[in-house]
Amino acid sequence: MRGTEWKHSKEEDESFRRAIDQATQWIVRYFNQPEAYPVLSRVKPGDIRDAFPNTPPEEGRNYDELLEDFRTKILPGITHWNHPSFFAYFAITGSYPGILGELLSAALNINGMLWRTSPALTEIEDLSLDYLRNMLGIDEQFFGLILDTASTSSLIAMAAARESISELQIREKGLAGRTDVPRLRVYCSQEAHSSIDKAAIVLGVGSENVKKIGVDSEYRMDPSALERLIEEDVRKGYKPFCVVATVGTTSTTSVDPVAEIAEICMKHDLWLHVDAAYAGVAAILPEKKDTLAGCQLADSFVVNPHKWLFTPIDLSAFYCKRRSILRNAFSLVPEYLRDAEGPDVTNLMDYGFQLGRRFRALKLWMVINYYGRQGLENHIREHMRLADVFKAWVERNESFELMAPVPFSTVCFRYRPITGLPEDILNSEENREAAFDRANERLLEEVNRTGKAFLSHTKLHGKFTLRCAIGNIRTRESDINNLCLLLQEKAEAVLARFS
Ligand SMILES: Cc1ncc(COP(=O)(O)O)c(C=O)c1O
Repeated sequence: MRGTEWKHSKEEDESFRRAIDQATQWIVRYFNQPEAYPVLSRVKPGDIRDAFPNTPPEEGRNYDELLEDFRTKILPGITHWNHPSFFAYFAITGSYPGILGELLSAALNINGMLWRTSPALTEIEDLSLDYLRNMLGIDEQFFGLILDTASTSSLIAMAAARESISELQIREKGLAGRTDVPRLRVYCSQEAHSSIDKAAIVLGVGSENVKKIGVDSEYRMDPSALERLIEEDVRKGYKPFCVVATVGTTSTTSVDPVAEIAEICMKHDLWLHVDAAYAGVAAILPEKKDTLAGCQLADSFVVNPHKWLFTPIDLSAFYCKRRSILRNAFSLVPEYLRDAEGPDVTNLMDYGFQLGRRFRALKLWMVINYYGRQGLENHIREHMRLADVFKAWVERNESFELMAPVPFSTVCFRYRPITGLPEDILNSEENREAAFDRANERLLEEVNRTGKAFLSHTKLHGKFTLRCAIGNIRTRESDINNLCLLLQEKAEAVLARFS
């Protein structure tokens, strides 16, 4: 029977060492050949759950059995984000230094709620975020915090923005049932991520009060429309309090004109948060420094090392210039958490709604130190080059069409067969567009079904659009070439069966 001894037995130590060795060997084999697996899992809903008993084991099982279950029963239900032909959503990368950080962090099992509950957690977090800030070219006024996701980072930012209108005493009195509080308004472009709406829902602002600003032909927020709407809202008695600009929108990776938006925010005394979750890290490249132009003027911004900085999910870097407001929004210290250090230290629990926090910073510290600035630059630059290779193929191929500019490593495109469709379809624009939508939906399905590549989609100006996002350190030009061949082959098959 396991679980009663206070000390591990020699046998337990040995079997753990063996299991870790086996896991490490598996990881190395896996990273060398992720293509051995279909990129998109082929299981049906319930298959994985059904592979296991419904009740927990009475007696503990050994690591060999657990690793065997992992290999035979769990792996089939994995969609391989590590696969070099994972091009869906925003492709991400697991990396050896990131895994090492996760492993050691799990072993330490520390909780960094207070500085004293593990000084190294707080200080490595601070240091790693300083390194990242430095590489991004953002100055020291910004206080950094590691959170799980960009969704949480934007929620925290909007909570701080709400706290910045302190005269309304929302922290103390809440929002519900009050006649003395006008409706609060948040502004973002119609291309902003859904996490902004969710944050407004959670904060009691309400989704109706997230006003979506129109975009130009390149999907960037129109600042004059923003200002007009703010002024109109003020006239109507609403209370604008926050604007969210996006650097790298989810569909097309467009960059809002942050500097212009910042000016409007300063004029109207509004909090500016910049969601640079995906594209922000491109500012590490000297030739892409302008990616974060204007962010210096923001009150807060987020970049996600777990998206495009080779750090295993999850790790989001949140930066805030108005640290005391962030603290006012969240700090609440019960007696049992009072410490002796006082204001000399940062207690991370003061800067968010969560108390406990794990040592995420260790993996970021490992990644930054292992690759160095140059290594990170090289990988990001290579991804943008590969996106250019794919974009050039789309542009050369008269049956395909580019749907948006490609500022980073994501290409929006669609299949647009100009010959081969029945006459009655080609003759009417409405029929033609509906047919293109159908053809692209089918093409996406066909490509993904092969298990050789995984793409995702969006809608641009109402048109069903395919997305190819490159962000994996194992993706090579040959993977892009294979994708082109696969698209060509499946497009022809879709056309042949078109009805
Ligand atoms: C622009 C943008 N913001 C926020 C998010 C949400 O990221 P997370 O999964 O870290 O919450 C995404 C996800 O793709 C995104 O594209």
